[in-house]
Amino acid sequence: MAKAKTVFFCTNCGYESPRWLGQCPSCREWNRFSEEVVAPRELKSRSGVGRMEGDVPEAISQIKGDSAKRLSLGDVEMERTLGGGLVPGSVVLLAGEPGIGKSTLMLQTALRYTKGNVLYVSGEESKAQIAGRGERIGALSDNCFLLGETDPATIVSHARKLEPHFLIVDSVQTLESGALDSAAGSVSQIRESTAQLIRYAKTHDVAIFLIGHITKEGQIAGPKVLEHMVDTVLVFEGDQQHMYRLLRCSKNRFGGTNELGIYEMEGKGLRPVENPSELLRSPLSEDLSGSASAAIIEGVRPLIIEVQALVSSAVYGTPRRSATGFDVKRLQMLLAVLEKRCGFQLGAKDVFLNIAGGLKVNDPSIDLAVTAAVLSSSEDLSLPRHTCFAGEVGLSGEIRPVTHIDTRISEASKLGFRRILIAKAHKEVHVPKDGVEVVRVAKVNDMLRTMFG
Ligand code: TYD
Ligand code: MG
Repeated sequence: MAKAKTVFFCTNCGYESPRWLGQCPSCREWNRFSEEVVAPRELKSRSGVGRMEGDVPEAISQIKGDSAKRLSLGDVEMERTLGGGLVPGSVVLLAGEPGIGKSTLMLQTALRYTKGNVLYVSGEESKAQIAGRGERIGALSDNCFLLGETDPATIVSHARKLEPHFLIVDSVQTLESGALDSAAGSVSQIRESTAQLIRYAKTHDVAIFLIGHITKEGQIAGPKVLEHMVDTVLVFEGDQQHMYRLLRCSKNRFGGTNELGIYEMEGKGLRPVENPSELLRSPLSEDLSGSASAAIIEGVRPLIIEVQALVSSAVYGTPRRSATGFDVKRLQMLLAVLEKRCGFQLGAKDVFLNIAGGLKVNDPSIDLAVTAAVLSSSEDLSLPRHTCFAGEVGLSGEIRPVTHIDTRISEASKLGFRRILIAKAHKEVHVPKDGVEVVRVAKVNDMLRTMFG
């Protein structure tokens, strides 16, 4: 028998080397190499992802695009995140931390689909466990088939017989191809097993969902190589204490990556949340100091969220600045603007900022609401609940215009807000009939005058 060949893989990017290296020449990370047993060369050389048997060059204009034939999954949140339904033959990686609800989400999708067979392959749970969860979620479907298997070749041969419309593999870390000696979850196993499944998906036009765990460092299934191989990467996230989960798309060969799906974890599985703004605002109805509503855009979706600030005298020498769901450096910049341009003495104050609901916000249009919340808390003056904000704050205290202003205004109007503050630079805005009053402000000082008189 040939001596088992070992190679070294970078566990970060999947770079392969015949010997151990301290620093990866590809991703420049240190101490990432691990030794793995691989099969002799002739077996390995078949693992190319895009390789199709006997393919010949064809003019692109002669090839029929597959953008039209998408499968409807009956779940608006997921369909939207995928860019409008599931593309046959596409391979989607669903990544998330353990316990976030990946298996639940996929099982629900499988049970909801009735236009054809769905094969749910699990290497993590027994069939009885999955069926038990299925019963809790809802009615069991005759089209959903369960298989407890971890060898990709066997999975493919079962799938060929069953001819499902799509396949779910839970999880990619449990896959173990017989062609390799290395253990399940290793870089070479994940690469080889995924390549086998992708080849099946592409040649048979069957979509595959691969479930992948995110490691502690936030990496999907260890190597980045997996993200390169698949067509679409969905990330399922959310705080475990909070009741809702966000489904984001971080890579999509068949659509945009700026969509967001929102679910709520309930006793009977995950419920798509149709009106997320309701969920993200705290239920109190009275005016509060230190709390302001911001009209932000997540992807292409408007959301009204609540920003809470607490400003208090610093107990220790160095004042603390802490932010949850918001960049603390940006908070420091906004505090400096308030100090320098508006004359507020915040240098000796502790400032805490929180985005209600545990959301992480990158949209700079939240700045105006952040400054309003900070000043409201600092001066102990409440902001009216029926006012919301949408504007970026510049270094000289000017309010800068933001994208999709009409969408934000109409969302605020839909949710019953009576006033929205936006940048003066927005010349023509569409205001819905009987809608909100639009107040245009040029500087942070104008906002102060409007809000606090
Ligand atoms: P699961 O789908 O097993 O997570 P993952 O596959 O990402 O590891 O779901 C884990 C959690 O979801 C579990 O802690 C219990 C909770 N859950 C509910 O709250 N309601 C339900 O109906 C189900 C099925 C799970
Ligand atoms: Mg699971």
